[in-house]
Amino acid sequence: MRAVQITSLTGPDSALELVDLPEPEPSHMMSPGEGVVVEVRAAGVSFPELLQTRGEYQMKPDLPFVPGSEVAGVVREVAGEASVAPGDRVAAFCMLGAWAEVAVAPTWMTFSLPAALDFAQGAGLILNYHTAYFACRTRGRLAEGETVLVHGAAGGVGTAALQVAKGLGARTIGVVSTGEKEQVAREAGADEVLRSDGPWKDQAKELSGGGVDVVVDPVGGDRFTDSIRSLREGGRVVVVGFTGGSIPEVRVNRLLLNNVEVVGAGWGAFVLSKPEAFRAIGDEVSRLAEAGFIRPIVGARFPLDRGAEALHVLDERRATGKIVLEL
Ligand SMILES: NC(=O)c1ccc[n+]([C@@H]2O[C@H](COP(=O)([O-])OP(=O)(O)OC[C@H]3O[C@@H](n4cnc5c(N)ncnc54)[C@H](OP(=O)(O)O)[C@@H]3O)[C@@H](O)[C@H]2O)c1
Repeated sequence: MRAVQITSLTGPDSALELVDLPEPEPSHMMSPGEGVVVEVRAAGVSFPELLQTRGEYQMKPDLPFVPGSEVAGVVREVAGEASVAPGDRVAAFCMLGAWAEVAVAPTWMTFSLPAALDFAQGAGLILNYHTAYFACRTRGRLAEGETVLVHGAAGGVGTAALQVAKGLGARTIGVVSTGEKEQVAREAGADEVLRSDGPWKDQAKELSGGGVDVVVDPVGGDRFTDSIRSLREGGRVVVVGFTGGSIPEVRVNRLLLNNVEVVGAGWGAFVLSKPEAFRAIGDEVSRLAEAGFIRPIVGARFPLDRGAEALHVLDERRATGKIVLEL
């Protein structure tokens, strides 16, 4: 099969090589002897792959390896007990190995692809939408009727968080950096969109009648203190990522003074050792997709041999929605 490997840790341009490899067996490192083999139609592109080309991601497999954590495609073979069968359209989280014509995922990380979603959308379903559900609902305790502010609202996690929040019955405010991204955030379901270089904290307080209930933050950096200030009493800032570059520090007196919380949301760290939790979030995401709330926005598509270009789009802050490789 054709696959892309990371062969050195020299950044996206020189680290990736298109190679011929044997197809994987129906056995995954997370579930030896069991797995779902998928004919890949689309593979997701995310920050971990970019960081892996530089050796900067926490998971550091031996070189060379095939990157890519999620796929959508058609089941070819199943070993073990699974909710899917050969011929089914699926979305699957394989952790590594997605950037290939054939990939293998654990049975419990493989889900039927909702009929309304195409393969490219399916390749954007698990990482971003499971994280969005985990951040909004599990960790942020977002409830019907509450208001959520989403940073990086035109990005992969951001668009997912907007759609999940609408599905949970929340009012949504997106924060973005450009006019083009404002359009994307609106398409994803933002009721209001604010600019990150404007007075978004005061605007959010005004729009929400005194403060938002939840902030979902995949960006971090300088704006973190204003995120805390934008909360109403009892509000929660949910820490999801640091695309803005720096990891913020919190003066905890701010939490005491206004009775607010800062909550971490590390989806992978939580679910990868808990198949039941993984499935439960997946079932909720499927339910929201069936109900029409979840429709992943595919911002750019590349063929398998142009993975480096796909990573540059992420690196240069040009990405909207999900970037996929189509096979
Ligand atoms: N905690 C978890 O379990 C979990 C799971 C999945 C992903 N993540 C993390 O969440 C973060 C977001 O992932 P994503 O897939 O949504 O990324 P993305 O699609 O690239 O979106 C990130 C957004 O961050 C904003 N941003 C601000 N400063 C930036 C900069 N210097 N470079 C790039 N973007 C910048 C951009 O929005 P504006 O231009 O509008 O500001 C961009 O749209 C990543 O750090 C990822 O590793 C965490």
